[in-house]
Amino acid sequence: MNKTYILGIESSCDDTSASILCNNQMLSNVIANQSVHTEFGGVVPELASRAHQQNIIPVIVSALKKAGIDKKELNAVAFTRGPGLLGSLLVGTSFAKAFSMGLDVPIIEIDHMQAHILSHFIQNQEGNRLIPEFPFLCLTVSGGHTQISIIRDYFEMEVIGLTIDDAAGEAFDKSAKIMSLPYPGGPFIDKYAKEGNPLAFTFPKPSIPGLDFSFSGLKTSFLYFLRDRLKETPDFIEKHQSDLCASIQFAIVSTLMDKLSKAVKQTGIKQVAIAGGVSANSGLRNAMLKMQETQGWTVFLPEFQFTTDNAAMIAIAGYYKFLRNEFAVQSAVPYSRGASRQKKK
Ligand code: KG4
Ligand code: ZN
Repeated sequence: MNKTYILGIESSCDDTSASILCNNQMLSNVIANQSVHTEFGGVVPELASRAHQQNIIPVIVSALKKAGIDKKELNAVAFTRGPGLLGSLLVGTSFAKAFSMGLDVPIIEIDHMQAHILSHFIQNQEGNRLIPEFPFLCLTVSGGHTQISIIRDYFEMEVIGLTIDDAAGEAFDKSAKIMSLPYPGGPFIDKYAKEGNPLAFTFPKPSIPGLDFSFSGLKTSFLYFLRDRLKETPDFIEKHQSDLCASIQFAIVSTLMDKLSKAVKQTGIKQVAIAGGVSANSGLRNAMLKMQETQGWTVFLPEFQFTTDNAAMIAIAGYYKFLRNEFAVQSAVPYSRGASRQKKK
């Protein structure tokens, strides 16, 4: 079998990442996180692009070293073209173009959201990881996106449900902020929720028709609920932190699972995957496993290293485009806007 080495570069938000794949197997996946945003309670675009500029070369050098290959062995360079922060995307895009010209190899443009889904196709060293078959459903949940898609082929994805306001990750992060937890708050809520009672407090579920989501009402009701409680008990949050985290996590996860179950019923597709940063959430992962047990779903949970932004997912998407000879032009520019309901080719 031919050996194809793809370098993947991800720089759409606040993680600079480089990964090398040999065919569909990962050789390295290096991620530089940006701690500079923590004190601002959210990603500051200007600071993100500067940090990418600082991190990109060391991250690429490290990915090549870990993979044990020379840059001259690369067959192509895949990069995230969008959606994301423009200044951040420009760093990865410009680097990919210049590097590919220097090496005289093609560049491959990748959609970040498609890549999250395609991370399910990264094979392990033993070659025994269970990989979904087409068609399957994927719930992609991150800090910027919440959507359900039907995946008919590697690049044939139909979005059938979308958030009309906040993303699930935002719902986690904003709820965490209300409780004065550090940014990004999703992992903290997950951690404290493990000790708490998910039914301690109840929050109203949004009633959005079809397969669309809405999380802004939940955030507001959480805010008002705490504002009222804090008036009577100033240390209410400290006293009930675990129960609050468990209850808000339960509310977010049940909203996601309700729509996913509806999508399974509507489409008759029972192979169901989750992807994106929020797919690391233990409440969501357990809810998926429960559906496998009770409803006969075959579920695909990504490895933790592939949940949040990473370049291995860009490289695997690049590998499948490489096999189709789908290369980008050197004049390709990043795009910042995300998915719509149309099919993505
Ligand atoms: O996919 P990602 O790294 O970046 C975007 O493309 O947005 O997702 C980041 C999001 C953040 O909102 C973060 O709080 C959330 O994923 N997240 C989690 C967990 N780990 C990351 N949310 C809930 N539970 C977790 N364990
Ligand atoms: Zn992402």
